[in-house]
Amino acid sequence: MEKFNIAIDGPAGAGKSTIARLVAGALGFVYVDTGAMYRAVTWKVQHEGLQPEQENEVAAMANRMQIELIPREEGQQVIVDGVDVTKAIRTTAITDYVSLIASYGAVRQLLVTLQKQMAISKGVVMDGRDIGTHVMPDAEIKVFLTASVEERAERRFKEMQNSGIGSMTLSELEQDIARRDQLDQDREISPLRRAHDAVLMDSTSMTIEEVVDEILGLCKDKVGGGK
Ligand code: DC
Repeated sequence: MEKFNIAIDGPAGAGKSTIARLVAGALGFVYVDTGAMYRAVTWKVQHEGLQPEQENEVAAMANRMQIELIPREEGQQVIVDGVDVTKAIRTTAITDYVSLIASYGAVRQLLVTLQKQMAISKGVVMDGRDIGTHVMPDAEIKVFLTASVEERAERRFKEMQNSGIGSMTLSELEQDIARRDQLDQDREISPLRRAHDAVLMDSTSMTIEEVVDEILGLCKDKVGGGK
């Protein structure tokens, strides 16, 4: 099977991780959720009792820590220095600070280096904010996945209700998503941008299956399909 790389970028809550995981499963590729790596650093900052604003200390700590990403059928398992933080990194305590941590140049440099290493042998579906622009600028397939703020907040709200984690109202979620969009788009280093060669997909009125099918269709057109 010919292997290639797929970059999926877009704002928070556009469905990137679910879609990337399904695309990877369909092709027999490895799914890498890069947002989880920024969340893992944020978790460690809190665990060590550091102030998220202490950029130099945060960067030094990030250099000392070990992050393992283990692909599982139900999603990616995240281990930080031997501790399973898969669930802990999804709490609002982490979400509130992760955009700040992800704005630090030294943290980004470290994580981008790790991400580039993961992509070398190809057969990777990676999702994030800067994958098509910085991490895998040569990816064979690039998708910029978006959806309206209202739709993304609605999806997060349903997810929270189903999982029982989180207690935000729909309008609080809308505000939070808009705040994170702004932070990710306005930061100095590697802001959220659509790569010039990325295919724009607006999932506002599409089902997950429709988006997955469209991406698999792109794979067939461009590289003759996976398997
Ligand atoms: O996708 P997510 O919500 O788990 O991402 C968490 C944070 O990390 C979010 O503020 C954007 C940031 N991020 C980033 O800057 N670059 C990436 N490649 C992935 C995520």
